[in-house]
Amino acid sequence: MNEPILEVENLTVQFKAKTKMFRSTGDREKWKRVLNAISFSLRQGETFGIVGETGSGKTTLARTLVGIYKPKDCKVTLYGKRVDFRKKEGILLLRKTIGIVFQDPVGSLNPRVTVYDIISEGIPVWEKLKEEQKAEKVREAARLVDLPESKLESYPTELSGGEKQRVSLARTIIGGKKILVLDEPTSSLDVSIQAQILNLLIRLKKELSISYIFITHDLNVIKYMCDRVAVLYYGQILEQGNTEEIFEHPRHPYSSDLVAANISFSSTTKFSEVQESGEPTKEGCVYKNSCSKRFASCDNEPPVIDYGKGTVKCWLYSNMRDDRGNKMER
Ligand SMILES: Nc1ncnc2c1ncn2[C@@H]1O[C@H](COP(=O)(O)OP(=O)(O)O)[C@@H](O)[C@H]1O
Ligand code: SF4
Ligand SMILES: [Mg+2]
Repeated sequence: MNEPILEVENLTVQFKAKTKMFRSTGDREKWKRVLNAISFSLRQGETFGIVGETGSGKTTLARTLVGIYKPKDCKVTLYGKRVDFRKKEGILLLRKTIGIVFQDPVGSLNPRVTVYDIISEGIPVWEKLKEEQKAEKVREAARLVDLPESKLESYPTELSGGEKQRVSLARTIIGGKKILVLDEPTSSLDVSIQAQILNLLIRLKKELSISYIFITHDLNVIKYMCDRVAVLYYGQILEQGNTEEIFEHPRHPYSSDLVAANISFSSTTKFSEVQESGEPTKEGCVYKNSCSKRFASCDNEPPVIDYGKGTVKCWLYSNMRDDRGNKMER
């Protein structure tokens, strides 16, 4: 088994939320916790999936991993080096190593700039290339993503959705990043184009020896793309492990509800809108109000149980029993 290249421990991200307090003289600041003690690792060459419904914190995680947001707490280690989010060097280390591709290629591409210039934006400033070296790099990146050279002088508005996402990808890979965070990279595309982009991503991973953190709300995309997966629910990882194992034997009640319902969320659908379920709770288990298996212990924060092939955050497994009361293998 490959060693982890990225280790994330207890990552917590919160935003200031302005609330009008009753009988207060003005606005008071409150904190909204969007990611709560997230831990996972990424190994060389693997695709690690993060699946969750809208609002679960996926984009916040993606943006934190490339240094856009600063976590409140965390221990992040990249190729054995601890990342200090409070220091410039820490952010630079993240940006040198991890690239991001956003869901919406339209919003992330400047409509007034040619494709050539957009792709070349991804060349790190410290490379200081001559014009013809730069042109060679841009052509190579375009070739890698199957974008015809004739498109380099076009503007984003002249491209199809799939071509725009190829341009975003070319801009990211030209910087020689070792890890790509793909935040719903195919969600805004037609189904037929989605498959082309997914297959392109599989090929790029092999050709460039890179690793992916693949974020999506779509269970089918997870099945197709990911070696391991973490199930995110309102800022918490409720279960993670081998993809096949989780689809065949989901252990957390939320994961089994998802798999049983075979939901392919649209990017704006919540589980609660397609399945009768309650609101997430702040006290005890976050899934308590929707869980058919809840019992007295669930009023307390559940422990994260490592069962060998993965982890599950649920009281049912605290004595290593499965949800039918059978002893679980380690
Ligand atoms: N910059 C921000 N400031 C305040 N709240 C935010 C910010 N970004 C995201 N949020 C909130 O965090 C939660 C998770 O959002 P997001 O990470 O975009 O989820 P997802 O990508 O899974 O849909 C949402 O409730 C959203 O409103
Ligand atoms: S901890 Fe309790 S409420 Fe939460 S998922 Fe497990 S059984 Fe259900
Ligand atoms: Mg998102």
